[in-house]
Amino acid sequence: MGVKLALLSTAAINDALLAGARESKLVDVIGVASREHTRAETYARERGLERAYGSYEQLLDDADVELVYVALPNALHVEWAVKALQAGKHVLSEKPLSRAPAEVERAFDAAERAGCLLMEGFMYRHHPQTKRMLELVREGAVGELRLVRSQFSFTLDRPHDVRWSGELGGGSLLDLGCYCVNASRALAGEPDVVYAEQTLAPSGVDVRFAATMRFGGDVLGHFDCGFDLPRRVELEAVGSDGSVAIVPPFVEDEVRLELRRGESLTASETSIANRYGCELDNVARAIGGNEPPLLDRDDAVAQARTLDALLRSAETGLPASP
Ligand SMILES: NC(=O)c1ccc[n+]([C@@H]2O[C@H](COP(=O)([O-])OP(=O)(O)OC[C@H]3O[C@@H](n4cnc5c(N)ncnc54)[C@H](OP(=O)(O)O)[C@@H]3O)[C@@H](O)[C@H]2O)c1
Repeated sequence: MGVKLALLSTAAINDALLAGARESKLVDVIGVASREHTRAETYARERGLERAYGSYEQLLDDADVELVYVALPNALHVEWAVKALQAGKHVLSEKPLSRAPAEVERAFDAAERAGCLLMEGFMYRHHPQTKRMLELVREGAVGELRLVRSQFSFTLDRPHDVRWSGELGGGSLLDLGCYCVNASRALAGEPDVVYAEQTLAPSGVDVRFAATMRFGGDVLGHFDCGFDLPRRVELEAVGSDGSVAIVPPFVEDEVRLELRRGESLTASETSIANRYGCELDNVARAIGGNEPPLLDRDDAVAQARTLDALLRSAETGLPASP
């Protein structure tokens, strides 16, 4: 038996995690909680899960649950991560943990007090092609890194989606742009200053967001994201001698890594790996003390600092420092 995991909510994203869990030999999903008991029961029956909890608290009271997957609207991640940690559970929280660095610190403080693992769920970071891209850039395969360019958009046409709610932590930056920010930081380090612009939806959340970041040294990054644009998912790191791109980054298990020297394509490698399966394997091994968590406290806090600076810059029209 692997690490016993339970799902906190019946979120749409659970199906992707469940597919990953089927590939992982290190984790077993034993149950699901919902605010409504019948919803949990139906969900558990349809997915073949053994246990259904009629409240999130009931899940946390189950002594058999070792790991909780927090798949809630963004504004509830820290609240329920902390409750789960206080109940002695390890936590994998969906991204972003929070836009507020102090909230991320609070969650990791709770993890440290409980002696439990907490990880922010940027599943694409666990894909071997993402790791390969970071390695190539570090090894100088594109020369000196100079620019990181990324995009993530789709058309959100569900009017009642949680992504439209400011109260629940919606908006395109926190939903989509957070991947661009995360990948840019992984490639270029932490930004010194950011400049951002946003367009607001009638609900008050950003429906479109674009930003430029200056990283330590001489590296620039720019990205855009949005809910009122066609689907575009791109990530490219450009150096003095070439570039490397993942096609498409973030959202697929089958991805191609393209390396260019000058204008010539010198390598194009496709690989398939279940991002959630890789993520769950890392979480389970980290819980067992067999390998370090790929994403840790420092990474999550720095991520929140950058998101917060981006939102401040977009709100004030001024540059902001994380
Ligand atoms: N969908 C994706 O492709 C995707 C991909 C990567 C990451 N994520 C992340 O996963 C998280 C969940 O996203 P999702 O798209 O899967 O969300 P979703 O389908 O809208 O599900 C959110 C769940 O949260 C629970 N919930 C608790 N309080 C709620 C409230 N006040 N309003 C609405 N729902 C509430 C509900 O479960 P119960 O009613 O069962 O309690 C609901 O099913 C987000 O943080 C998102 O960033 C999603």
